[in-house]
Parts: sequence; C-alpha cells; structure tokens
Amino acid sequence: MFKSWFAPAPRYRMQLAHQIIDISPNQTVLQSALLHGVNIPHGCKAGGCGMCKCRLISGKVEQIIENTAKLTATELNSGIIFACCSVAKTDLRVEIITNSVTMSTSRDQAPARV
Ligand code: FES
Repeated sequence: MFKSWFAPAPRYRMQLAHQIIDISPNQTVLQSALLHGVNIPHGCKAGGCGMCKCRLISGKVEQIIENTAKLTATELNSGIIFACCSVAKTDLRVEIITNSVTMSTSRDQAPARV
C-alpha cells in the first residue's frame, strides 16, 4: 500500500535538437529544454503568446496550463504543441519550429513603412 505512495514518478527522455534530454516529472517541455541549454523560442511561458510552438513527432504530452493562444485545426492535426504548457507522459521526439521571418530578420532587413 505505501509502495505506490512513495514510488518515484516516471522520468522520460526527449529527443530535441539532436540531443537526448531527461525530463523531470511535472517539468514542461520548455523548462526541460532550457535547463539543458536548448533554446526554444518563447515569451510568456504561460500559454498566452504562442511563441513556443513545437511539433510533437512522437510520444504523448499532457497540457497542464490552459493556453489562451489558440492552435488552428491544421496545427493540431500536424502535432503542434505549446512547449510551455506540455508535460511528457511518454518518451518524446520534438521538433523546434522556428519562425523564418523572425529568425532571419536583421537590422538591414527589418520591415519598414515610409
Ligand atoms: S511561451 Fe507563450 S505560449 Fe508558450
């Protein structure tokens, strides 16, 4: 009876950006990535901005924060998750989505209106 109370929570592994990362119980995908030096673009860390979108290639996650930023039906069908709201329930394989406009914008290429 006590055994189940004191059983360690399961730990999972996540393949992300060509690294294998241990995920601690109840840590979000974003928290785990940042702790291991992998930067997933993010903002609010609370499901509001949508900047931390990642693609779940394999595995299952549980959403622990109700996100206010919304995913389109197409995004949902293609496995997009919010890294700041998602906790692993199995081993995961996750792909970071980079916004090519944001990532490639430099001072010389910044959009402007005259
Ligand atoms: S960081 Fe804002 S929704 Fe995840």
